[in-house]
Amino acid sequence: MIRRTLAALLAAVCFAAIAAAQPKPAPKPKPTAPREPSAAAEKARENYRLTCVPCHGPDGRGVIPESNLADGKWKNGSTTAAIAKSISDGVKGTAMLPFKDRFSAPEILELAKLVRGMSVPAKATKPGGK
Ligand code: HEC
Repeated sequence: MIRRTLAALLAAVCFAAIAAAQPKPAPKPKPTAPREPSAAAEKARENYRLTCVPCHGPDGRGVIPESNLADGKWKNGSTTAAIAKSISDGVKGTAMLPFKDRFSAPEILELAKLVRGMSVPAKATKPGGK
């Protein structure tokens, strides 16, 4: 009887020791601030530099007439989706050619986010804030 109790006790102690020896779960990585730009955003910057700068300029202010992307005026729509459509399908009758054969849809979406970010909010361009 005592033996059995001792055996049980020993087993319990061993079990506790093994449980205590288990490695603790690794601490969650802290969110790093500021966030690194994603690879896709980097690629969009590169695509813009190589393909769009000749007409739209490095900051989007435009080199040729009507090509200002930074003035807050979006003739063909100011949502990311509308801008992506302008890039994908081009603007008929202008120098803005369709780029859907050149870039994938996700690449075009990144370009749209990039050029949208170059623009001031539409209202801020009007004097007096009206
Ligand atoms: C050959 C010159 C040229 C190139 C290259 C070019 N664009 Fe354009 N883009 C224009 C012109 C001109 C317009 C204005 C069209 C108009 O009158 O509506 C325009 C319009 C746009 C618009 C619509 C702006 C609005 O007001 O709605 C977007 C967005 C745009 N371009 C993005 C791009 C991006 C991104 C690239 C590179 C992938 C690019 N463009 C390459 C000439 C160019």
